[in-house]
Amino acid sequence: MCGIVGYVGSKNAAPIIVDGLRKLEYRGYDSAGIAIHDGKSIEIVRTLGKLVKLSDALEKRTLLGSTGIGHTRWATHGRPSEINAHPHSAGPIAVVHNGIIENHVAVRQELEGQGVKFLSDTDTEIVAHLIQRELVQGAPNLFEATRRSLLRVVGAYAIAVVSRDEPGVIVAARNGSPLVVGVGEDEMLCGSDIPALLAHTRQMLFLEDGDVVELKAKGYRIETVAGEKVERKVKRIDWSAVQAEKSGFKHFMLKEIHEQPDCIEATLRGRIDLAGGDVYAAEIGVTPELARGLRRIYFVACGTSHHAAMAGRYWVEKLARVPAVVDLASEVRYRDPVFFADDLVVAISQSGETVDTLFAVKAARAAGAKVLAISNVVDSAIPRLADGALYTHAGPEIGVASTKCFTAQLAALLMLSVYLGRRRETLSKERAQEVLQALWETPSHMRDVLGDADYMHVIAKKLTHAKDVLFLGRGLGFPIALEGALKLKEISYAHAEGYAAGEMKHGPIALIDDQMPIIVVAPHDELFEKTASNVQEVLARGGKVIMMSDAAGIASFPGRTLATIRLPDCDPFVAPILYAVPLQLLAYYTAVHKGTDVDQPRNLAKSVTVE
Ligand code: M6R
Repeated sequence: MCGIVGYVGSKNAAPIIVDGLRKLEYRGYDSAGIAIHDGKSIEIVRTLGKLVKLSDALEKRTLLGSTGIGHTRWATHGRPSEINAHPHSAGPIAVVHNGIIENHVAVRQELEGQGVKFLSDTDTEIVAHLIQRELVQGAPNLFEATRRSLLRVVGAYAIAVVSRDEPGVIVAARNGSPLVVGVGEDEMLCGSDIPALLAHTRQMLFLEDGDVVELKAKGYRIETVAGEKVERKVKRIDWSAVQAEKSGFKHFMLKEIHEQPDCIEATLRGRIDLAGGDVYAAEIGVTPELARGLRRIYFVACGTSHHAAMAGRYWVEKLARVPAVVDLASEVRYRDPVFFADDLVVAISQSGETVDTLFAVKAARAAGAKVLAISNVVDSAIPRLADGALYTHAGPEIGVASTKCFTAQLAALLMLSVYLGRRRETLSKERAQEVLQALWETPSHMRDVLGDADYMHVIAKKLTHAKDVLFLGRGLGFPIALEGALKLKEISYAHAEGYAAGEMKHGPIALIDDQMPIIVVAPHDELFEKTASNVQEVLARGGKVIMMSDAAGIASFPGRTLATIRLPDCDPFVAPILYAVPLQLLAYYTAVHKGTDVDQPRNLAKSVTVE
């Protein structure tokens, strides 16, 4: 978590860095800071709270200079405070850092033994002192001092460093935390994620773990921490800067909810063969041989991506008849699960950098399994480690609560399931055509749902004062119920639980009283009658039901509901993609009614790069 940005060139660096940090605020927002080199000295400003506090401080104290680094923080070591905010300094050095340095206690004790005085509680401060020590001990420049210092550092980091004694230079490095370098015209940038740099360049290179880079206005050089010169390919990024703006919407989350039809179209385009009832092998990240030979699919993911994985299991079992398991990536690392060499491990991660998912992938690979990554961020850590990648083309997702990446993941997983079913000859061409056609029509149905967003605004009022909300679903409706509950929890802070409808009578039904709203995900499919009778049991105990179904489901449901949400008719296989949308809107408008911070909910960060 945390976001870092660096700029070196001829322009005034501070506004560029603050603007870049704004694009990274989703990564953490409890404090922020900036260090600017004016050619002679370095000035540092740090503030507690969101980035706007830093902007306000910079209005009062203008920093001029064309080299600088900045940071937006999600506290790990040391509570949020101005003292613990980055940059951290030691003598001429200022450092910003994203990640966790595991051996910081031992290094700190060693440095304290040599008389170093620490000012913060952070793990980061040791880096500044190590670099200063290397310079005192004779390292010829900042690059070399940083490289040598990093030999002492164990853990995850992306850092950017400036030195008072070397104007016009930034040294940056990564190991385990993301760092992108932007190659501009007579200017260079670095940052934790692409959107931070997009306003300045689309030419970017992705550092590998263990890379150290020296950035100057006119160029750069890269070495490994071990001192070996390396080249990294510059790539053109096709995201646009506008995609990372709110474009007239009140919040990024609302904009991203509305972008979903386009994101799904972009994810499907060029990959599916509607007439042939198939998916192109070159586009899916799994070879036909692997598709035919695999014995089990093992999904690993966290949070929203885990809910997508649950739908993925349902689809691959049904369409490709492959046994499948779904595991929380955070549970994999220390449980020592059994992976087989003929497993296909599907790691789903919007950001591609969630540390738990990354470790699960490492464990799977170590056991000889093949890994497919489903991610929205090209060249991020998880796809880089995987044997194949299937990218969702949802564009940058800035709202901390994932929306468009979730439905794009679902579209990718259904596409993958069709591909596997066709290779394994468990799915007829005709049924594949039907499923793919339904998938292709989903964006149009979504646009109808989004056209009714005002209705969700009204229904959300009924949830505003609810302390607890239940979400129920069966089959493919169950992961959507879980996701609906997660969205509501994350942004409105209401306590919400998702349950498999059939589980109600095994315990949770005890919770129901006449204060409890229960939102039911129930397309009129083969499971509808079962779900409907679970809902009757809830109604009999006074529960206030909000029923989501299609025309047939709503017409045939006999009970009295608090409200109904009618969705377009669709193939039950694509229903989860569609039914996710009203639940996102419901969570969004509930949060708006309650006045919570929708895009940056308390205590959260979008990319979870710590355990
Ligand atoms: O980037 P990832 O998909 O790996 O992230 C996983 C979770 O951290 C993420 O889905 C989280 O639950 C979101 N805040 C959900 O809205």
